[in-house]
Amino acid sequence: MAAMATTRPISLLLLLLAAAHGIGGTTPIIDSTCAAVSHNSTKHTDYDYCVRALSADPAALSATDTRGLAAAAVNLTVANITDTKHVISDLLLNLERCLKYYGDMDDTVARALDDISAGLAADASEKLSQVLDDDFSSWCTLILVQGYAQRNPIDVENHNVYLVSAMASDITELLLRSGHAL
Ligand SMILES: *[C@@H]1O[C@H](CO)[C@@H](O)[C@H](O)[C@H]1NC(C)=O
Ligand SMILES: *[C@@H]1O[C@H](CO)[C@@H](O)[C@H](O)[C@H]1NC(C)=O
Ligand SMILES: *[C@@H]1O[C@H](CO)[C@@H](O)[C@H](O)[C@H]1NC(C)=O
Repeated sequence: MAAMATTRPISLLLLLLAAAHGIGGTTPIIDSTCAAVSHNSTKHTDYDYCVRALSADPAALSATDTRGLAAAAVNLTVANITDTKHVISDLLLNLERCLKYYGDMDDTVARALDDISAGLAADASEKLSQVLDDDFSSWCTLILVQGYAQRNPIDVENHNVYLVSAMASDITELLLRSGHAL
C-alpha cells in the first residue's frame, strides 16, 4: 500500500513530463537521435519517420538518452512483430475456412457439370442456385474483413467466383427454360 502511494505521484509526474515534452510533438533527444541516424547510419532511417514513430511512443517520449530510445525502438519492433504474427495467424485461420467453403462449392459445381453433360438441366440449375444461395464468397469476405487482420487478400478471386457462378446459373436456367419450350 505504502509502495503504491509513492509510485502513483511519480508516474503522474512522468506523465506530466511526457505531456510537456509532447506539446511540440517530439523531444530534443528524439530530434537529435533521429537527425543522427538519418545522416549517418547503415539503413539511413528516414528522419520524419523516426520522429513520428518515436514521438508517438510514451517510452520514447520519456527517454533521456540514446539507450532509452534504443530500448523503445526495439520494444516497438517486438510489438510490431507480435502484431504481424497475429495478423498472419488470423489470415491463416480464416483462409483455411474459406478453403473449406470453396471445397464444398467445388464439389457441388462439379456435380452440376455432370448433370448438364447428362442432359439433366433441372438438376444442374438447382445445384447452381444452391451455390449462389449459400453465397460462400460473401461469407469468406465477411470472416476475413471482420477478423483481426481486417483485410481480404482474395477479394478479386471471391468477386470473380461470384460473377462467373451467377452467369453459369443464369445460362443453365435459360437452358432449362428452352428445354421446356421444346
Ligand atoms: C559517422 O559514424 C562513424 C562511425 O560511428 C563516425 O566515425 C563518423 O565520424 C560519423 N560521421 C559523421 C559525419 O558524423
Ligand atoms: C515494452 O513495451 C511494453 C508494452 O508497451 C511495456 O509493458 C514494457 O515495459 C516495455 N519494455 C521495455 C523493456 O521497454
Ligand atoms: C509498430 O511500429 C510503429 C512505428 O513504426 C508504431 O507506431 C506502432 O505502434 C507499432 N505497432 C504496434 C502494434 O505496436
